[in-house]
Amino acid sequence: MILILAADDDLEQSVREAVGDVVQVQTAPLDRGLAAASSAVEVVVIDGAYEPEKAFTVAQRFDEERPEVTVVLHMEPTGEAFGRAMQVGVRDILPFGADGDRIRESVKRALELAERRSHSMRSADNPQDQHRLIMVLSPKGGAGKTTISSNLAVGLAMRAPKQVVLVDGDLQFGDVGNALRLLAETSIRDAIAGGLHDATEVKVHLTPHRSGLFALCAPEVPGVADEITAQAFSKAVTLLHQEFKYVVVDTDPGLGERTLTVMDHATDLVFVAATDVASVRGLHKTIDALDRIGMTGAQRHFVLNRSNAKVGLDVADIAATIGMEPDVLVPSHVSLPVSMNQGVPVIEGGESSPAASPLWELVSRFEADPNATAEQAAAAQRRNTGLFGRR
Ligand SMILES: Nc1ncnc2c1ncn2[C@@H]1O[C@H](COP(=O)(O)OP(=O)(O)OP(=O)(O)O)[C@@H](O)[C@H]1O
Ligand SMILES: [Mg+2]
Repeated sequence: MILILAADDDLEQSVREAVGDVVQVQTAPLDRGLAAASSAVEVVVIDGAYEPEKAFTVAQRFDEERPEVTVVLHMEPTGEAFGRAMQVGVRDILPFGADGDRIRESVKRALELAERRSHSMRSADNPQDQHRLIMVLSPKGGAGKTTISSNLAVGLAMRAPKQVVLVDGDLQFGDVGNALRLLAETSIRDAIAGGLHDATEVKVHLTPHRSGLFALCAPEVPGVADEITAQAFSKAVTLLHQEFKYVVVDTDPGLGERTLTVMDHATDLVFVAATDVASVRGLHKTIDALDRIGMTGAQRHFVLNRSNAKVGLDVADIAATIGMEPDVLVPSHVSLPVSMNQGVPVIEGGESSPAASPLWELVSRFEADPNATAEQAAAAQRRNTGLFGRR
């Protein structure tokens, strides 16, 4: 059910026209706030047309008291409004005068998200439902996917040994094997040749890494990539996802068929972009394309790589263009290429690189630091929520 908190029925009319009779829609005065929301409410649309301050306050109450409800704000989507909305866990801002398509899309996404959230709350006790399938993506080559994914996977494995697999999804030019100095005797090609009847057939083709991580390496010969269909690749990854707490997939640039097929099952998408205009625009287009095709199920994380680059856009411009604040800022530093060439990710080598701390921040979004205090863990959890970033 959709609850609209507004001074009049105008918004209700537009929402009804957009969603039809399939979803129940009700309006209550903004003043009633949380009290107007019965347990059947899945989505609340808060009208900020007359009293924007009150709209933010009510959104915050929902965030604190009814986290399973998805909140959409109706207001002018300025940079400031986005920033504040993000802080109070708002999912979307519906601009004034939005047409039927825009309203339908926003409400549909909000309902889907509410359904997933209540599902994840119901199944919180079921460990298998907590397994994460994390895809590391960027539209542009060379943005740092392999660097980020190998550090993320090794960091996760250091906290959850034997429970993490890194899949090299760059089947043509994959270099996960080099990044981790692995002597892979077998690859995803052999795993698929086995027929993919069960997870064991894939598990025997994993290569162990000293950190406690397993890797499913790309074939040695680039031409072999063409033999591996999107369906076979996706099946191999999902079999691993059933067995392992974390599966991290390094991808090739862009949104190829293999990447999109696996994405249907992903729980998390880690977007990697650098600060140059092409990288940022490319990511904006990618996110837009994913929204359009309804790939909105996974939690999104944004890593800004080479964040301190002298040339390029600043962080505020990037957040405004993409509509999403960077979650983690990884500085440009020589230790990253050096570590990659040596096959020892910086995260393994202690705190000597300025990139180590942000990379651990990324790891902590998934697996908390066992030595962190309760306050630090709560702060990390808070950072992990907000506009587009919460399930
Ligand atoms: N923050 C950084 N500072 C300095 N160098 C970096 C940083 N991040 C990545 N690099 C270097 O940039 C190059 C490209 O990074 P990487 O291979 O991780 O990108 P990629 O997105 O996987 O590329 P491809 O699209 O080719 O797979 C590598 O040499 C890497 O060491
Ligand atoms: Mg790569």
